[in-house]
Amino acid sequence: MRDRLAFALDYPTLAEASAGAAQVAELVGVLKVGLELFVAEGPAAVKLGAQLGSRIFLDLKLHDIPETVERAVATAGQLGASYLTLHGAGGPRMLQAAAERADREGAGLKLLAVTVLTSLDASDLQAVGVSAPPAEQVLRLGKLARSVGIHGLVCSTAEVAALRQALGPEAILVTPGIRPAGAAVGDQKRVGTPASALRDGSSLLVVGRPIRDAADPVAAARSILTEMSGALATPA
Ligand code: C5P
Repeated sequence: MRDRLAFALDYPTLAEASAGAAQVAELVGVLKVGLELFVAEGPAAVKLGAQLGSRIFLDLKLHDIPETVERAVATAGQLGASYLTLHGAGGPRMLQAAAERADREGAGLKLLAVTVLTSLDASDLQAVGVSAPPAEQVLRLGKLARSVGIHGLVCSTAEVAALRQALGPEAILVTPGIRPAGAAVGDQKRVGTPASALRDGSSLLVVGRPIRDAADPVAAARSILTEMSGALATPA
C-alpha cells in the first residue's frame, strides 16, 4: 500500500518539506513536489526522494512546444523523478514527444497528463473556446494522451471510475482530493475517501493537508493506509 500513497509536499521551503516528509516517509512511497517548492528550491527538492527512500512525483504541469517539453522530461528523468505531470491540452505532438523521450531515457519516469483542471467549470472552458462539457473534455484528453504513449492521468475521484473503464487496466490513474472520513475538506470541491478512490480504480492516491496538518501526521498516514488495505481486502 505504501507505493500507492503519495504525500503532497506543499511547503514553502526545503527545510519544512524535508522535516514533514521525514516524519512519514516510512509510510508513504511517493512524495509530490509541486510548483511552490520546486520554484523555491529546485532539484534539491527532488533529491529528497533518494534521501528518504521514496519516489518523487514532480508536479510541474508542463505545457510548451514539443521540443521544450521533451527536454524538460529528459532532465526530470536524470534528476531522478519517477512521475512528472504535463497538460493534455498541449496537444498530440507535445504529448508524443514527451512520452517517447521518457521511454527512450530509460530512467523509469512515468508521465501523467492533467486533463481539465478541477478549478475550471463549463463556463471557464467556453471562455477559452472549448464548447465540450468538462467530463467530455476530460475523456477526450485522457484518450488522446494514452493514444500517444502517455502513461497515465491525474484525475478527480469523481472521474476515476469512468476513466478506468474507458482507458483499461494499464493506465496509471492518480487521484488527489482524498479525504479520510471526518477530515477537513478545505478548498476541495469534490472529495473521495481513500477506500472509494481505490475501489473506483485509482492507482495512486495523493494526500496533502490531511497528513500535513494533522496533529499526529504519522497516525494520519497510518490510518489512511489501513483504510486502503481494508478497501482492497473486502468487496464494496
Ligand atoms: O491538501 P490536499 O490533500 O487537498 O492536496 C492535494 C494536492 O493535490 C495538492 O498538492 C494539490 O495541488 C493537488 N491537486 C489537487 N487537485 C487537482 C490537482 C492537483 O488537489 N485537481
